[in-house]
Amino acid sequence: MVSLCIIVLMVFLATFAGVHLATMPQARVETVDPRTLHITGEFIESNLGSAVEPDGSVTVRIVGQQYSFTPQCILIPTDTQVTFRAASADLVHGFLIQNTNVNLMLVPGYVSSLTARFTKPVQSNMPCHEYCGTGHEGMWAHVHVIPKAEFLKLAKQRRRVTCVAE
Ligand code: CUA
Repeated sequence: MVSLCIIVLMVFLATFAGVHLATMPQARVETVDPRTLHITGEFIESNLGSAVEPDGSVTVRIVGQQYSFTPQCILIPTDTQVTFRAASADLVHGFLIQNTNVNLMLVPGYVSSLTARFTKPVQSNMPCHEYCGTGHEGMWAHVHVIPKAEFLKLAKQRRRVTCVAE
């Protein structure tokens, strides 16, 4: 009886999540060739970091590889729709901004994308959370959420904004 109840409960939860909460697998997957990631396309080095789009939203492009993220320090404005687009140049990595809902897996061959909005200025860490080799513990980046006005001032001066020390 107990095992039957557990099965019924799980079927109910799966149906509830799928139908009522509309939790579905991604409708569309975008692919990218990890071998040419650095040479061509949107993930070339000069295109990484945060950029303001014509509609006022911000796109953040990041590459993960053994054992670092590029850029090492990400700048994000408050009160703005932020779309993360990330790709792996070698194997599976984790993409997580601590204390937020931002949590993705970087799978080589695919673009991982997620949209989020940040309300308060905060500094956070972004550790890799998928074991990716002996240097896994050392693979992480910084995230700085700064006031929108401050961000837009920086974005006027540069095409791509990061907080990597220059
Ligand atoms: Cu990359 Cu763990």
